[in-house]
Amino acid sequence: MLALFFWRYEVKVAVITGASAGIGKRLAFEFAADGINVALVARREEMLEAVRVQILEQYKIQVMVIVADLTADQGPQSVFDSLRDHEVSHLVNNAGFGTNGLFWELDRQKELRQIGLNISALTELTHLFLPQMVKRNSGNILNIASTAAFQPGPNMSVYFATKAYVLSFSEGISSELSGTGVKVTAHCPGATHTEFADVAGVNDKLLFKAGAATVDSVAKHAYLSMSKGKVVAIHGLKNWLLAFSVRFTPRFLIRSLAKVITK
Ligand SMILES: NC(=O)c1ccc[n+]([C@@H]2O[C@H](COP(=O)([O-])OP(=O)(O)OC[C@H]3O[C@@H](n4cnc5c(N)ncnc54)[C@H](OP(=O)(O)O)[C@@H]3O)[C@@H](O)[C@H]2O)c1
Repeated sequence: MLALFFWRYEVKVAVITGASAGIGKRLAFEFAADGINVALVARREEMLEAVRVQILEQYKIQVMVIVADLTADQGPQSVFDSLRDHEVSHLVNNAGFGTNGLFWELDRQKELRQIGLNISALTELTHLFLPQMVKRNSGNILNIASTAAFQPGPNMSVYFATKAYVLSFSEGISSELSGTGVKVTAHCPGATHTEFADVAGVNDKLLFKAGAATVDSVAKHAYLSMSKGKVVAIHGLKNWLLAFSVRFTPRFLIRSLAKVITK
């Protein structure tokens, strides 16, 4: 089901998935503050509407609400279809979720939905919107990966693997796009205060108990990194050092450490 609350012909717009909460919601305000119209995508219509109202109270831009389950058949395609008459200048693939537990004990359908959202929807939306950006020789794609992308994550094996895909895919197409004027950024936040930890059931894990960043600082950093055209951007010095140290640490040790913070 898809609802559209604002529509204008040939309006430039930034499409943000997962804009009803967390990082995606804050990112919408970053675009709005820069005078860029936004299309907010998620499943919870009331939350999207509330974000729309909050943005319009502060900024003179156009805000569209697109209600879509990106794991549903035709989910990404329905988002693309509703923006057919718009010039999509930015695509933010932010919607994502994680799970925690022993892989073989987790709900199979939920694990597959996780891959569907974190990988398939991101890939499909990118494939749908990229051709028009390449044709125009301009555009930005901001993919929200994670510091999980840099190592395996026992107890969150599928989640960490999906984020490794996001990082690798983003770097790959960013290189393919060299010279086209289209930039791709993989942004890698560490633990961040959003609904994510509740959804994944990891609030009581060291991963979050060791400290989490504010959603404001993560969204601002992601927006700035995209604006500068950075290919890979890691939020925070501690996260950068951790991601960097992985290169010099034996894999068995990395696996053991990752297991401690997610158990
Ligand atoms: N928070 C962290 O610690 C952290 C760290 C690193 C990376 N990240 C990444 O940051 C991104 C944003 O996460 P967050 O922390 O902001 O989490 P969040 O607060 O749980 O927000 C997730 C967003 O995704 C949307 N969403 C979930 N399932 C969807 C579906 N099937 N179709 C469409 N939209 C869907 C949710 O909206 P609806 O429920 O309304 O659909 C919500 O707007 C994710 O990719 C996550 O992996 C988060």
